[in-house]
Amino acid sequence: EKGGFDHFMLKEIYEQPRSIKDCMRGRIYPEEGKVQLGGIKEFAEKLKNIDRIIIVACGTSWHAGLVGEYLIEEYARIPVEVEYASEFRYRNPIITEKDVVIAISQSGETADTMAAIEMAKERGATIFGICNVAGASIPRLTHAGVYTHAGPEIGVASTKAFTAQVTVLTLMAFYMAQQKGTITTSKLIELLTELDHIPEKIQVALESNDLIKEVAEKIKDSTNCLFLGRGSGFPVALEGALKLKEISYIHAEGYPAAEMKHGPIALIDEEMPVVFIATQNSSYEKVISNIQEVKARKGKVIAIVTQGDTEVKKMADYCIEIPDANEAFLPLLATIPLQLLSYHIAVMRGCNVDQPRNLAKSVTVE
Ligand code: M6R
Repeated sequence: EKGGFDHFMLKEIYEQPRSIKDCMRGRIYPEEGKVQLGGIKEFAEKLKNIDRIIIVACGTSWHAGLVGEYLIEEYARIPVEVEYASEFRYRNPIITEKDVVIAISQSGETADTMAAIEMAKERGATIFGICNVAGASIPRLTHAGVYTHAGPEIGVASTKAFTAQVTVLTLMAFYMAQQKGTITTSKLIELLTELDHIPEKIQVALESNDLIKEVAEKIKDSTNCLFLGRGSGFPVALEGALKLKEISYIHAEGYPAAEMKHGPIALIDEEMPVVFIATQNSSYEKVISNIQEVKARKGKVIAIVTQGDTEVKKMADYCIEIPDANEAFLPLLATIPLQLLSYHIAVMRGCNVDQPRNLAKSVTVE
C-alpha cells in the first residue's frame, strides 16, 4: 500500500508530479490561454465585481492561502485577506454579500474552518471551497468549489495536498484575472504553457533527494531551525518550518527574511541552521544580503536556489537546486526540497513520520 516506499509521507511527496497533473486536468488550455473551473462557473459573472476575498483555513492549508493571496492580488487585482479560521470565527468580522470567502481544507472536516464558513454564510457571503476529500462536510457547506484531486493523503503531514491547493489557487487567480480582464490572453498562454510543465520540473526537484539526505545528516541534531523567504517564498518558509516541527520535533520558525533583523537574528550562532528560499526572482538580491547577515554571525546556511546559481553558492554551506520557473510557480517547486529535508531528518531522529505524536490527520474538535 506504500508502493515500495518506507512511509506514506515519502510516497505522497513522490506522487506530486502526478497529483498536480491530475489537479490541472481539463482545467487549463494553454494553447488558447484559457482556464476552466466548472465548479465555480456559475459565479463567473459575480467574480467580475467583487471587492474582496477572504481566505479561511488552518495549518498547512492556511499557508496555501497565503500563496493564494500573492497570486490573486498579482493577477486578478482583487484584495485578499487570509485568516486563521479559529480567529476569524470568534471575532466579529465585517462581511457583506459582496464578499467571497474561500475555505481551504484537505480533509474538509476541520471544525474551525467549518464554523468560519457557517458564520460567513449567515452574513451573506458567497463561499467557495478548496477541498481534497470529495463529499466531505466542507464541500457540502459551500456554495461552490474546486476539488484538488490529489488522491488520499495518509501521512499526517500534508504534502501533496498542499501543492494541489496551491495549484488550485493558481488556477483560481488566473481564472479571476481572465474574468476581470486584468490579464491578456498572450500572458495567459505564456503562464499556462509553463504551468503545464511544472509536473516535470517537480520531478527534477525530487532528483535532489540524495543531496538533501546529506544535508539532513548535517543538521539532524539541531534543536532549532529558521526558515526565511520573501514574497511567496515567505509562505514556503512557514510551510517548511511547520513540516520540520511536526514530524521531527525540532523547534522551527518561518519568517519573512526581512523580519529577521527585528528579533530572530538574536538566535543566530554556529549551532543555528537557517534555510533560505533564495531562488532567482524579484527578491533575489535582498535575500542575498540576508544570507550575508546570517553568515556574518556564523549561522549554517542551507539555500534553495535556482539551477545554475553561482552567487548564493559562494556564501551558503549547502545549496539545493530547483529548476528555474516564473515567480508565480516558485512555491510549487521550492516546497519539494523542504518536504524531503524534514522527512529525512525525522527518519534519522527515529520519529514516527506518518503519525507524529499528539497530531491527528483532521482536527474535528476545536
Ligand atoms: O484538513 P485541513 O486542511 O483542514 O487541515 C488543516 C490542518 O490541520 C493541517 O494542514 C495540519 O496543519 C497538517 N498537520 C499540516 O501538515
